[in-house]
Amino acid sequence: MPKGNYQLPSLKDAKIRTREAVKVEHALFKLPEQTRNLGVGRKFYLRTYGCQANERDSETIVGILESMGFSQTNEEQDADFILLNTCAIRKNAEDKVLGELGMLKKLKTTNPDLIFGLCGCMAQEEEIVQLLLKTYNQVDLIFGTHNIHRLPELLYQTMMSKERTVEVYSKEGEVIENLPVKRFGKHKAWVNIMYGCDKFCTYCIVPYTRGKERSRLYGDILSEIQELKDQGYKEVTLLGQNVNAYGKDLGIESGFANLLEEVAKIGIPRIRFTTSHPWDFTDDMIDVIAKYDNIMPAIHLPVQSGNSDMLKIMGRRYTSESYKSLYDRIIKKMPNCSFSTDIIVGFPNETEEQFQDTLDMVNYCKYDLAYTFIYSPREGTPAASMEDNVPEQVKSERLQRLNELVGLYSNMNNQKYVGKVVNVLVDGLSKKNDQVYSGYSEENKLINFTGKDVHEGDIVRVKITDVKSWSLNGEVVSD
Ligand code: 5AD
Ligand code: SF4
Repeated sequence: MPKGNYQLPSLKDAKIRTREAVKVEHALFKLPEQTRNLGVGRKFYLRTYGCQANERDSETIVGILESMGFSQTNEEQDADFILLNTCAIRKNAEDKVLGELGMLKKLKTTNPDLIFGLCGCMAQEEEIVQLLLKTYNQVDLIFGTHNIHRLPELLYQTMMSKERTVEVYSKEGEVIENLPVKRFGKHKAWVNIMYGCDKFCTYCIVPYTRGKERSRLYGDILSEIQELKDQGYKEVTLLGQNVNAYGKDLGIESGFANLLEEVAKIGIPRIRFTTSHPWDFTDDMIDVIAKYDNIMPAIHLPVQSGNSDMLKIMGRRYTSESYKSLYDRIIKKMPNCSFSTDIIVGFPNETEEQFQDTLDMVNYCKYDLAYTFIYSPREGTPAASMEDNVPEQVKSERLQRLNELVGLYSNMNNQKYVGKVVNVLVDGLSKKNDQVYSGYSEENKLINFTGKDVHEGDIVRVKITDVKSWSLNGEVVSD
């Protein structure tokens, strides 16, 4: 191994879960003396892959780098520090990053002082870090999801020593408050309510890359949301790999339902949350969502498969029947609720009949939106060592059939909106047409619309005129 400082990830350690209470660190973030002006006159370029947890981490990373004097650039060739915040959920997510690293390598020939960093979930993977060390010399700095707060020190070390720095913790993790943050949105904000995951679904790498389920304290979450409201934010999305587990590690009963209710009472106009697990989605939660108008009627409820045997092998803790019953209970209380889901096809040995059950589930729930994936083996997860008799071509065909059905319901649901008036939080001008605004309805539908006197951050009433594949068109109406 070339000279450098190495603390490498370990899959074996990342699996461990103890009963030890999680440490909540409230100390105010302070830059180490020598790192304070490290960024003055220097620029960084940050690219984020993957889910909202990574987006939110990137907001912290930008906050930290700006506090060191760095300024952000959108041009890779202008940067002194390039950082990729990566995703490991499927192999294609990793391939994208590895491809990007290849493309960016040439920038080092024109700027030999350029520092290349990689963080996020790929950094937590033993196999990937070994690969990076062996074949991607251009990467100077690797750090993981548990030690973002160490970035100033690690960057300083890398720049001064001109040696490679790898620092990845494979531990359960803690909760660190008061890190700097530069929010990417002016009207919509992500708010972490918990970190990590203990579900260990057999296909999933997240419990290994993000550590144990650990909740932020009630008071910390509520004061963050109050502050956002005071700053004029219109929407918060509560984030966790499995928000229904909120509070369990703190010994709180009905933690998420209670938290949601307290958040609703703060009176911020829009509250969303993601992701909820169908397993411990309680009736208390349904009641609270139905009770408050500012909790949006849009639920993301990953089903993964419609077949109970498959769900068992996936380690999902619910059956096809119990999922349908949950769906029924929600729809009964909130007939206008929109539903989205995640579905995996081609899990090892999935039969045609089992796949048919997934199609049946889509017919039953008539999802507004479904994110569909071909199963991708993840090193170290139980499913990765299962024999698999399903040919790749069959998996692709299943995905295509599934997508056709999903598209049918998505369109059917959208058609129902034509002629109706919906409330839209304005994101700004549409990316494709500067005469047209865009934003999301309460049901989380993307709406493109025309109107006068419209401003970013307004909530306006829009009459839907027609339907496109992924969005609805409309015009502002005044009451
Ligand atoms: N292969 C394919 N899809 C996966 N997901 C998680 N792990 C895998 C995997 N190994 C999907 C699940 C999850 C979503 C975020 O990604 O559907 O809900
Ligand atoms: Fe992965 Fe399952 Fe945890 Fe979701 S609940 S992050 S699919 S292990």
